[in-house]
Amino acid sequence: GAPVEVDIGGLQPGEKMTVEWRGKPVWILKRTPEQLAELPKLDPLLADPQSKRNPDEFTPPYARNEHRSIKPEILVVVGICTHLGCSPTDKLQAGPQPSLPDNWQGGFLCPCHGSTFDLAARVFKNKPAPDNLPVPPHMYLSDTRLLIG
Ligand code: FES
Repeated sequence: GAPVEVDIGGLQPGEKMTVEWRGKPVWILKRTPEQLAELPKLDPLLADPQSKRNPDEFTPPYARNEHRSIKPEILVVVGICTHLGCSPTDKLQAGPQPSLPDNWQGGFLCPCHGSTFDLAARVFKNKPAPDNLPVPPHMYLSDTRLLIG
């Protein structure tokens, strides 16, 4: 598959866009400062908060950080659950949500077996999905142009 070039100039804080790369959905999410500030607080609830598990498969070196991204606000991940391959849905709203952790600040929910992910696509503990969602290879061509692949 060829790399995919994406213009993210129009993406607003809190918004997510989806592009296709190698037949897979890739999510590009622009997180707000408030959403970024919540990430470290979730670490105790996560299965692999530092993305140390299978890093070669799931997290390239430039995304091995708390926000799992090159630019702190821009998350780029493959939107396919690491359990059995369903596509998680957005649960971006903060506040109490049925069957989600009490301190849920927004993230993603897999409809198949209930795995939940935070806004860095890190999987919560005691969920069927073993790994965080994969960060695909990517780089910035300019401030607003992203190359995936
Ligand atoms: Fe996502 Fe099973 S496929 S929880």
